[in-house]
Amino acid sequence: MTVTVVTGASSGIGRSLARRLALRGDPVALWARRKPLLDALAAEIAAGGGRALAVACDVTEAAQVAAALRASEAAFGPVERLVANAGGGEPTFVDAFRADDVRACLDLNVVGVARCFEAVLPGMLARRAGHLVVVGSLAAVRGLPSAGAYAAAKAALHQLAESLRIDLRGRGVDVTVLAPGPVRTKPKSKKGRGTSIDVEDATARMLRAIDARRRYAAFPALVVAATTFGRLLPAALYERLLAGRGRTPKPRSAP
Ligand SMILES: NC(=O)c1ccc[n+]([C@@H]2O[C@H](COP(=O)([O-])OP(=O)(O)OC[C@H]3O[C@@H](n4cnc5c(N)ncnc54)[C@H](OP(=O)(O)O)[C@@H]3O)[C@@H](O)[C@H]2O)c1
Repeated sequence: MTVTVVTGASSGIGRSLARRLALRGDPVALWARRKPLLDALAAEIAAGGGRALAVACDVTEAAQVAAALRASEAAFGPVERLVANAGGGEPTFVDAFRADDVRACLDLNVVGVARCFEAVLPGMLARRAGHLVVVGSLAAVRGLPSAGAYAAAKAALHQLAESLRIDLRGRGVDVTVLAPGPVRTKPKSKKGRGTSIDVEDATARMLRAIDARRRYAAFPALVVAATTFGRLLPAALYERLLAGRGRTPKPRSAP
């Protein structure tokens, strides 16, 4: 039984992972902004015999993160595991490039995770026990078309986590980086079956990696292989292969 916070628990990967953790017996604090979705998940978990607390929290706001931690620890005791999953991002298009979009993406995927670290780390260090888990992405490995902000943010997140792992060595706090490729979080997802993974399959793998306290876990195998191959390619060839494969901006609606 490990007291756990899952951020971004209102939908997708975070929802599925939080549900799995709670239904196997871990008390789970569910953090996200959409409280009604968290309440519904908490009720579902309670009906299944698990313990969960829904906490409205924007992880980019330090005061909200601190308050969410206080509420979570009042309910369950010291947080032993943080799953920093809240994240995501919009495509980056060169013809409509905006620095503020990059900043927003970094704010959610990097600074938002750092704010959660900032909240839980003092307690974990004092107890000399804890587990920080971040949901990164295979998009962190190399530049990708129409994903500049997101790839940059996830690369920064991976480096942040790895750096902290070095500094936390011998201090009782482990760090796990989960790096999924495309995950189908919606029933009608258009993501290709061979190159993407169903959300339940993804979170089953994540749970195994968390329990084993692995440093890094990436999947699915086909995307890991393609990413590894891509990393070895010379830049000129890599760019030629990926040019034009990004997303297309949606046409603007008439004013
Ligand atoms: N799906 C994929 O293909 C894929 C692949 C690799 C990595 N990932 C990563 O996996 C994680 C989950 O993604 P997903 O696909 O499950 O996306 P999702 O369904 O859009 O879920 C994102 C979650 O983050 C929460 N969130 C967003 N902004 C937040 C904020 N400011 N404060 C607190 N919570 C916030 C959302 O809740 P609220 O809106 O209620 O706040 C939601 O629960 C992300 O870090 C994503 O980058 C996803």
